[in-house]
Amino acid sequence: MLKSSYLLIFIFLLVAAPFSALAGVQTPQSAEYCGGCHRAIDRGWSQSVHSQAMESRLFQDALQMANADFGAQARRICLGCHSPTVAATGDLSLVRKVSWEGVTCDYCHSIRSVNMTGPNPRAVVEYTNVMAGPWKGVTSPVHGTVYSPLHTSSQLCATCHQYRNSLGFQVLTTYSEWEKGPYAAEHKGCQSCHMYRVEGAVVDPRVKKTASQEINLHQMPGSHSLTQLDKAIRGQLFVTHEGGELHVEVDVTNQGAGHMVPTGSPLRKLILQVTAVPFSGKSYREERDFTRVVADQQGKILNREDLVFIKGARVVSDTRLAPGETRKEIFTFKVPQGVRSTVEADFYYYYSPMAITKAQQEVKFLSFRRFME
Ligand code: HEC
Ligand code: HEC
Ligand code: HEC
Ligand code: HEC
Ligand code: HEC
Repeated sequence: MLKSSYLLIFIFLLVAAPFSALAGVQTPQSAEYCGGCHRAIDRGWSQSVHSQAMESRLFQDALQMANADFGAQARRICLGCHSPTVAATGDLSLVRKVSWEGVTCDYCHSIRSVNMTGPNPRAVVEYTNVMAGPWKGVTSPVHGTVYSPLHTSSQLCATCHQYRNSLGFQVLTTYSEWEKGPYAAEHKGCQSCHMYRVEGAVVDPRVKKTASQEINLHQMPGSHSLTQLDKAIRGQLFVTHEGGELHVEVDVTNQGAGHMVPTGSPLRKLILQVTAVPFSGKSYREERDFTRVVADQQGKILNREDLVFIKGARVVSDTRLAPGETRKEIFTFKVPQGVRSTVEADFYYYYSPMAITKAQQEVKFLSFRRFME
């Protein structure tokens, strides 16, 4: 068992050697290569949305539509964030394995600096055999290392999580929402909530025994994590029954997200659904959406990601919850006095109208229920 692992590493070294001998620009390496030593990190990353940014069915469908409607230039724009190694390899026809790895290890760890002065934050990337990371003075047998304070900063994430399209419209504003909010002032960056430290070996102990036993989580849990959704939203339900009316108040607070809820794609929604079921008579159901509605230059509301990225031109309405904000939502239903009823408040996180299965489309993550006399 041990022996075969040594052999594996030996093979890795052999594979790596010709690459590291090359000076200057180097082809981005596959996560499979990095994962041979950084096993725990690779396992985390493999479960992340970043590793699925290309393979995602939703993305592939949207990419095809963008390509069909707006041509190869649009394709290049999409791949810029969903398969960022393509900018260096020119692999627009996607024949390389690493192009299918989405936001992959070698991309993030080859970012040297971020230029925040242009219309969009822009990463300066150099594929060499030197890996930029958060540690000072660590050494690796196969690659150089360089301490990079940028890797503990939100600016690293801004390069893909803040985007203004060619019409000047801000499609993604996660970074600026964070920057304006309370967390930036407290120096709590994206990494503090999405890449916090967990137990795990930085490298396989068979490669280096003395390496740290703590790693930064690479799963990037976000809206696809129930734990994160539970941290993000606090809800309270108050119900009274007077004068033949059920009066329902739901207080909704963005208590745990460092940006708006929802953030990112304008197709995301937080949905509050309130249902009142009297023991006799008519039932009621009402919904409130927390979302940003985006339209094109002609005012047509856009409901596909490819359209939003390319043709988004203005915000029609924005009912999202800012960090720390509490909103009171009021509902009234006619229920005669003396009739008992149940009142339920459910929170759903809705991902995309382009989703095919129900699970891809939305998830229920929080519920409250009251019995009323
Ligand atoms: C500036 C970087 C950037 C560009 C350019 C970009 N995207 Fe994205 N895309 C993202 C990010 C970040 C998310 C996740 C946002 C969120 O979580 O709400 C995303 C999410 C998506 C999703 C939703 C995927 C899911 O799993 O729910 C689709 C579909 C998508 N993008 C398609 C496209 C298409 C098509 C293009 C080109 C027209 C494009 N994107 C261009 C960064 C980008
Ligand atoms: C042969 C094993 C091996 C392979 C393959 C390997 N690494 Fe490493 N890497 C190490 C070791 C050992 C360290 C030092 C760890 C320590 O001492 O804490 C390290 C450190 C790092 C660091 C920390 C640098 C810093 O200064 O913070 C990063 C980032 C990194 N590796 C990324 C990568 C990436 C990306 C790849 C793939 C392109 C890769 N590594 C491939 C063994 C390897
Ligand atoms: C205080 C903690 C906190 C900070 C700081 C924070 N986030 Fe989040 N983030 C969350 C939580 C909780 C969620 C889940 C709720 C949601 O999806 O809105 C989330 C969700 C997300 C999502 C998923 C959105 C979607 O709908 O798919 C993205 C993308 C994201 N964060 C990126 C970032 C980036 C980039 C930064 C830094 C600029 C950042 N976050 C800072 C807590 C945080
Ligand atoms: C989205 C960008 C991104 C991707 C993709 C990514 N990393 Fe990282 N990685 C980071 C950041 C940022 C840190 C430092 C976080 C901090 O210190 O707050 C880090 C830290 C590290 C470290 C130092 C140890 C630690 O956990 O802090 C190693 C080693 C590493 N990454 C290897 C990898 C490998 C291997 C992969 C692919 C399997 C990978 N990374 C994918 C951004 C990324
Ligand atoms: C090279 C571009 C790129 C960089 C750099 C990047 N991301 Fe992302 N990120 C994406 C894309 C693309 C998606 C959406 C993938 C999809 O759904 O198809 C995404 C999705 C996410 C999500 C949503 C997870 C979920 O559950 O839906 C979070 C959280 C996130 N990124 C956090 C970060 C943080 C934190 C950083 C900085 C350390 C970062 N990202 C850097 C491109 C990037």
